[in-house]
This record gives sequence, C-alpha cells and structure tokens, in this order.
Amino acid sequence: MLQIWGPSRLQGHVKISGAKNSALAIMAATLLCPDDCRLRNVPSLADINRMGEVLSALGVKLKRNEDILDIDARDLKTSEAPYELVRKLRASFFVIGPLLARLGVARVPLPGGCAIGARPVDLHVRGLQALGADVYIDKGIVHAYVNGGKQRLKGGKIYLDYPSVGATETVMMAATLADGETIIENAAQEPEVVDLANICRAMGAKIEGAGTKTININGVSQLHAVNYPIIPDRIEAGTFLVAGAITRSEITIGPVIPEHLRAVIFKLEAIGAKIIREDSDRLRIVPAYQHAATNIETQPYPGFPTDMQPQFMALLALSDGNSTITETVFENRLRHVAELNRMGADIRVKGNHAIIHGVPRLSGAPVVGTDLRSSAALVLAGLAADGETTFQGLQHLDRGYEQLEVKLKKLGAKLERIKP
Ligand code: EPZ
Repeated sequence: MLQIWGPSRLQGHVKISGAKNSALAIMAATLLCPDDCRLRNVPSLADINRMGEVLSALGVKLKRNEDILDIDARDLKTSEAPYELVRKLRASFFVIGPLLARLGVARVPLPGGCAIGARPVDLHVRGLQALGADVYIDKGIVHAYVNGGKQRLKGGKIYLDYPSVGATETVMMAATLADGETIIENAAQEPEVVDLANICRAMGAKIEGAGTKTININGVSQLHAVNYPIIPDRIEAGTFLVAGAITRSEITIGPVIPEHLRAVIFKLEAIGAKIIREDSDRLRIVPAYQHAATNIETQPYPGFPTDMQPQFMALLALSDGNSTITETVFENRLRHVAELNRMGADIRVKGNHAIIHGVPRLSGAPVVGTDLRSSAALVLAGLAADGETTFQGLQHLDRGYEQLEVKLKKLGAKLERIKP
C-alpha cells in the first residue's frame, strides 16, 4: 500500500525509463532471431520480468544487468507458451507471431480479459491466417501452424478492422520471415510499433512504412544479432507532466521524445499549462495557477492516448468548469471515476463519456486501483488532495512504473510504501 500526504509541491528533474509497451513487444521479437540480442534502456518492471519468464519457458536464455537485457533465442525447446505464465501477462500473447514464423507452429493460451476490457485477439488470428497459417482455438489455447509444419508463412495483404497495436505487431513480426511481401493496411501508428519495426530492421528485416497506416514487409530467411536501445516511455513521461500540473509544480522530465507527446502537450497547453522544450530530449512543465476545462476523446496514435486518460481525468477533476472525457479505445476504462469521486471529485459517467464538473480541491481518502493507469491517476490525485490518501493496488503500479514512489519522493512528494 502507498501512504500519500497532500497537497505536495514538487521540484527538480525526473528520469524517464524505457518504454514498457515497446520492451514487451521487442522481447517477443527476439524469438525471431537465432543470435545474440542485446536490449538497452529496458525498464525494471513486473511485466518485463513476466515476459522474461515466458521466454525462458520457451528455451530462451536471458541475462539481465541493470537496464541491459541479453537474450539468446538460438535453441527454442518448445512452441507452447505455458498457461500459468500467459494468464499473468496478456502481452505474452505477442510470442505467437514470432514462434509461428520461426518454428512453423505455435500454441499460446488465449490471454484473459482484464479490468479495462475483454481484450479479444481476433485481429491477431485473422492476420496470421492471412499469412497462410491454420489457426484454431481449442480448450482456451490458440493453435497456429503452417501447413505441413516447418513450411514458411507466405506474405499476404491484411486490412485491420481496427488499428490494433498488438495485432499490427503480431503480423509485422510474423511477416519478417514469411516468403514474399506482406502489406498491412489500417496499421497502428504508435511509437512502440515504430520501435519494434526499427529493431527488426536492425536485425535485417525489410520493413517500410512503420508509423503510417500502411506497412510493407518483405520476408527474409533469417535475422541476425542486434544491440538496440528502447525508446523512452511516453506514458510515464505524460504521467509525470500531469504530476507537475496537478500539484502546480514546475518540474523537468527526460529523456523524452517530444514528438511522441504531441497530443498530451497540446491538451496540457489547452488547459493553461506551458510546456517548454529545454533540450532535444528534455521538457519543463510550467503549470497554470488554475487550470481550465477541456474536452478529450481518446484515439489511436497520433490521437490522445487512452493510456493517459485516467491521469488526465484526475487533473480535470480540479480544473475550472466542466470537462468531458470520451473513452473510445477500451470498453471499461472509466472505473477510476468512483474512486476519484470518493476523494471529492464531481464526475458522472454516461456510457463511455465522463462529465467532469471541476471542484476547488480533493480530500485524501482510502482508495483502490483496478488497473495500471487508473492506479497512477489515484496516486496523482493523492498528491494534490488535502490530507492523507492510502492507495491499495501496488501490484498494478509495479507492472508499469519503475519505482514510481521513489521518483516522486525525489521530486519532494510526501509518500511511503507500507507493507500491509
Ligand atoms: C496496447 O494494448 C498496449 N499494451 C496498451 O497499454 C494500450 O492501451 C493499447 O495498446 C492501445 O494503445 C501493450 O502494448 C502491451 P489494441 P493492445 O490491440 O495491443 C480491440 C497499458 O496501460 N482489439 O490496440 O492490447 C481491443 O479490444 C496498456 O500500458 C480487438 O477487438 O491494444 C481494444 O478495444 C493498457 N481485437 C482496441 O482494439 C484484437 O484482436 C485497442 O486494442 C485486438 C484488439
């Protein structure tokens, strides 16, 4: 549990870690490569450890040294990812594309849903089928194989009904070793997709167009060793910008890639904060004394990121006037509203819309986090609230934020991790 005393004033600089959602996909991609892969700037997170467990269950050798992760996937010993590990980390479903491309067969348990939605994988499955794989689901396991085993996948044309990040990544990884050309239409354009494409290209894959709606992959027969730095985490960066805004503190964050934060920066400036570019990879936030209301609709990149929606809701709860937030990406990602209201916020949910009536202050309260980003939102609210907030749900925070409370304490926040 986290004990938080507010209101806090923050100051100083916070170091942004490597991107969780990039590292997870990239770890899966190392299955494509029967050679040494060195990943740098890898964050220390529970999710990263869990993905490492899944890879080692497949026969991969991993060696971690601070933010360096050495991966050797030369000798894969099975094509089946173990259920008890996959159910703890949805992202481990990303191994299906690389396993299928490398071995001609893959068996991966269906990842369960989670707090924010059902999280189906139909687009991943349809994408692999378009590359010539036979895919069927039996007893909760997705079985995928290329006819006659040991055959190669064939390049194909895929149109994604929704620009799914995971489905784009699954198809792109599988296509790197397929025979012929693959075109992915309506692809996700997230920076993490681009980072994944860049490491695959560094391993020798032929990929063009990552970051646009159309990605072209020309299959090669084998990939080779790589030494690759993961991009900074734009969602951790955005979370700390909101920490500065909500506590009306001027702080700097870095390293960041400002381009990845355009929508978040635009909305922070829309409510009256100033974001100053201090360096090529460092930003300073100068908050307004009183932030204004605004309206937000989450969209696939480059739109406003759903992973920043809960954090922004905490901020708008204290803005002047009425704001609305519409969550269009996940069907159940407004569960932090109830907890924010228990801290004195005035938010009403109608369908996938939240109507936020700004209040002058929040008060500390015992609150419970239901998923990673709603937990971050509650911690931010606790920093701004009057009095003590006890936050339960560290198992969510530790999945996606590297030492969040240590970084916040270094900025001057008053909070303690308490063993329950
Ligand atoms: C990735 O999840 C991220 N996770 C999520 O971050 C992020 O919120 C999401 O992309 C959107 O940006 C990782 O990268 C590990 P999607 P992913 O496929 O790939 C539907 C966080 O907090 N869909 O783009 O699962 C799906 O139900 C996490 O760090 C299908 O219908 O997201 C959702 O409504 C949360 N069928 C929408 O697409 C499919 O086959 C977007 O999902 C796949 C997805």
